[in-house]
Amino acid sequence: STLSSSSAASDVYKRQKNDLNEATTLHWHGMDVPAEEDGGPYQVIAPGHDWTAHYTVKNEAATCWYHSHMMHQTGRQVYHGLAGVLIVDDEHHSDLPLPHDYGIDDIPLILQDRLFDSDGQLAYPDRMDDRMVGMRGDVMVVNGVISPTFIASTGRIRLRLLNAANARAFTLAFSDGRRFELIATDLGLVEKPLSLDKLVLSPGERAEIVVNTQSSQPFTLVNLPVSSTYQAHFGLLSDLIRDLDTQAFDVLTIIPPEENITPPPALPAQLRDIHWLPEQDASYHRLIAMQMGEGQGNGGKRGGGPGARRERGGWGGGKHRINGRMMDKNFIEASIVSGTIEIWEITNDSPMMHPFHIHKVQFQILDRDGEPPGEDERGYKDTVRVPPFGRVRVIARFGGESNPHIPFMFHCHILEHEDHGMMGQFVIV
Ligand code: C2O
Ligand code: CU
Ligand code: CU
Repeated sequence: STLSSSSAASDVYKRQKNDLNEATTLHWHGMDVPAEEDGGPYQVIAPGHDWTAHYTVKNEAATCWYHSHMMHQTGRQVYHGLAGVLIVDDEHHSDLPLPHDYGIDDIPLILQDRLFDSDGQLAYPDRMDDRMVGMRGDVMVVNGVISPTFIASTGRIRLRLLNAANARAFTLAFSDGRRFELIATDLGLVEKPLSLDKLVLSPGERAEIVVNTQSSQPFTLVNLPVSSTYQAHFGLLSDLIRDLDTQAFDVLTIIPPEENITPPPALPAQLRDIHWLPEQDASYHRLIAMQMGEGQGNGGKRGGGPGARRERGGWGGGKHRINGRMMDKNFIEASIVSGTIEIWEITNDSPMMHPFHIHKVQFQILDRDGEPPGEDERGYKDTVRVPPFGRVRVIARFGGESNPHIPFMFHCHILEHEDHGMMGQFVIV
C-alpha cells in the first residue's frame, strides 16, 4: 500500500476481511495511530468478520509495514504470510531528487527466511529450539520469491529493505563490495546520505538504500555470514546461539542496465533536519529488562550458563519476560501522560540479541552500552537491537489521544519471543 500524509486523502479507511478459519489482527508497525486502530492484540478479527481501521496519516514519508499481532499466534501467522509493506509519502519527500518510481527504481524488498518440508510446503515446526531462539529457515525468500532477479533500467535504484523474518538478523552487502548510500531508517529520511558497505537489519527494522547499478556483469545483494563470537556458556541455548546467523544467503540478483546509460546525478547532500530530543527534556526514566527463561532442563545437567547459578540449568525454557513478568493482558507497565518525553533504558539479561520495538512512537537512540549509536542508526526508529547482556537508551515523545482502556505494546520483535511472553503494555492517558 502507498499512503500520503500530505494530500486531502490523508484520512485512511482500511477494511480488512478475515477469510481465514482462525482469528487474527492487523497491526500497522511504525504508524502513529490511536490505540483502538493499532491492530494489536486487542483488535481481534474473528473468522469471517471484518475490521475497518480509520486513521489520519501523521507519519512523515517512511517505509512501514503491517502484520498480524494475534496473541500467541503472531509468529505462525506472519510466517505463513500475514505481513506486507506500507509506504508513506509526503510532499517534502517527493520534491527531493531521490529514486521514486515504484517498481522501476524504487523497490520494496521484504526479507524473510523460511523452512520447507520435503513436499515443498512451508514448515513451522514450533520446536523447543524455535521458541528459544526464534524460528529460522534455511531458504531466503524476498517478496515471497526464492532467488529473485531485478532487471535495472536506471543508473541507480532505491531499495526499501524490511526485515520481516521471524527471528533472523541480516547483514546486507553487495557481492562485489560496492558501496551504497543509506537514506532512511525505520521511520524516515536521515539527515544526510551515509555511504556504507554493509548494513545490519534485525527483525522489524527497515532501511532505505540507494545503489548505483552500473556494472559490467550482474551483481548480487547478499546476506553475509556472521561468525559467532559467543563462547561463554554451555547448554542447549548456548549451542543454538553459537549457530545463529552464521549462514550466507543470496538476496537479490541485479542485472545492470546497458553500459552507456547516463550516470545518475549526485544525491542531495542534505535530506532533512532532525530535531534531536535533548535528554534533559525527558521527565521520566523507565527501566525495561528483557529476560529469557532459565530452562527447566534445557541447559540441564550440562548447564554451565548463568542459569546454573539459579540451580535450574542453562538458558531457554520458553518463558520469556519483561521486568520479570510474562505478557499479561491484565498488567499495564506504564501509564504515560500524552505529550510526555521519556527515556527508556532497555537491558538484555540474556546471551542473545533482542530487537526491541515500541508501538506508536518514533524514538531516537541515545546510546548502546554507553557508546553513541552507529551512524546508520541516527534517525527515527521504532525497533532497536539490544545486544547480549547489553543496554540501550532511547528517547521519545509519547503523544496522541488519550485512551486509558486500550494499551499499546512493546516487545521483542523475535516473534516467538513476543508470543511466549516477552511483551508488555502501556497506555497513553
Ligand atoms: Cu511489528 Cu508489535 O509489532
Ligand atoms: Cu508495531
Ligand atoms: Cu527476543
